[in-house]
Amino acid sequence: MKCEIAVSQSKTELQEFIAVLQKVNVKSYLEIGCKFGGSLWHIGKSLPQGARIVGVDLPGVEHGAKDAQPHLEECVLAVKAKGYDAQLIIGNSHDGDVIEKVYSLGPFDACFIDGGHTEADITQDFNNYSVCTTKLVGIHDISYLRFPEDKKRSNIEVPRVWQQIKKGFRHFEIRHEKKDCGIGVVWV
Ligand SMILES: C[S@@+](CC[C@H](N)C(=O)[O-])C[C@H]1O[C@@H](n2cnc3c(N)ncnc32)[C@H](O)[C@@H]1O
Repeated sequence: MKCEIAVSQSKTELQEFIAVLQKVNVKSYLEIGCKFGGSLWHIGKSLPQGARIVGVDLPGVEHGAKDAQPHLEECVLAVKAKGYDAQLIIGNSHDGDVIEKVYSLGPFDACFIDGGHTEADITQDFNNYSVCTTKLVGIHDISYLRFPEDKKRSNIEVPRVWQQIKKGFRHFEIRHEKKDCGIGVVWV
């Protein structure tokens, strides 16, 4: 399956994040931005059997891939087959009907935000989904360093937004890379 190998994360940062989720006994997990299902798969199968796992993605928009949906669906079916209560919501995480659907499946012990990467995207996702989360919210790409020549990836505003978000919460940072990835975690 593509989700086993196509993971948009630093391997060791993801391992550390998973260890935190296990330590605080996360039994319900929401992921905003799943692409091929890489992080959903690796995190999902590390949680206790029967855990509720919900992924939200709008395939083909920025940071996504047009051909991702069948792979993501295959991933969610595989997570289900492992004995988890896994569900996929296809849609824009900012839309009211998607937010309502997520709320109807919540609350969640943990949420991981890795969808749109502009200030508006991250702020909306954090505001909309931290309120249905009871333990912690992880935010991906806090270490991403902007390369002006890299136009495809130039609108990753997470590092700046993270500086604002973290002020209001008890938090910690998982940073193993110099110029990429990084997971900021706030206790909600
Ligand atoms: C960086 S990728 C996610 C990678 C995944 N978490 C992993 O580690 O393998 C970002 C994903 O967010 C999706 N996305 C971007 N903006 C979105 C939005 N407003 N609503 C839902 N999904 C969105 C993209 O289609 C893409 O699949």
